[in-house]
Amino acid sequence: MAELFIKQAENYAEGRPCYPLELFEFIASKTPSQDLAWDVGTGNGQAAQSLAGIYKNVIATDTSPKQLSFAPKLPNITYQQIPPTMSIAELESKVASQSSVDVVTIAQAFHWFDLPNFYQQVKWVLKKSHAAWCYTVPEVNDSVDSVFKPFYGITVEPYWSPARKLVDDKYRSIHFPFEPVDGVDHTGPCQFVAEKLMDLDHYFIYLR
Ligand SMILES: C[S@@+](CC[C@H](N)C(=O)[O-])C[C@H]1O[C@@H](n2cnc3c(N)ncnc32)[C@H](O)[C@@H]1O
Repeated sequence: MAELFIKQAENYAEGRPCYPLELFEFIASKTPSQDLAWDVGTGNGQAAQSLAGIYKNVIATDTSPKQLSFAPKLPNITYQQIPPTMSIAELESKVASQSSVDVVTIAQAFHWFDLPNFYQQVKWVLKKSHAAWCYTVPEVNDSVDSVFKPFYGITVEPYWSPARKLVDDKYRSIHFPFEPVDGVDHTGPCQFVAEKLMDLDHYFIYLR
């Protein structure tokens, strides 16, 4: 699936939303230490840069070197191109050693992964926590939404890969073989819902 993201890498860097700070504070509150975060499918580092403000080090990986080339360079983020599936030996050499990672995050990329292979990797490197999230289509008001939603449902949706339906389902139906974190209602990986305001320029870039 990585080829889908090569041509648009520069548009991604310009148009992708970043995520609310509360999301990262929530995640960090669930990790006993904040030494190392692994952001998988990092794209242009949208989540990695926020994680870098909390975790001492971030390893940010993606299959697409083009996507990585547009990511912000920060001293405590290491960007690494990885293949779509990895052996444990590759994982150890390209990402992190066994039981060394405080949190694994996946922002809007979970649906592209080979999950059995990925879960094996996560269980190998992780100390404890695992967070995945996605965002769905923006909402404006009744007038705009009543035009945009049918456009999205009829004109755009049929062309998505079947895996992308997991996003429209807010990841509720994705197989997620991990224990819930304390005090969180666990109905799947999507446990924290945040709303973020998007300005008009970003809305138009998103539509483009
Ligand atoms: C929709 S973009 C999300 C990028 C970024 N995390 C964000 O929040 O905007 C999905 C990313 O997943 C990457 N990707 C796809 N398959 C992957 C895989 N098997 N392993 C790692 N990254 C992958 C793509 O290259 C792309 O950059």
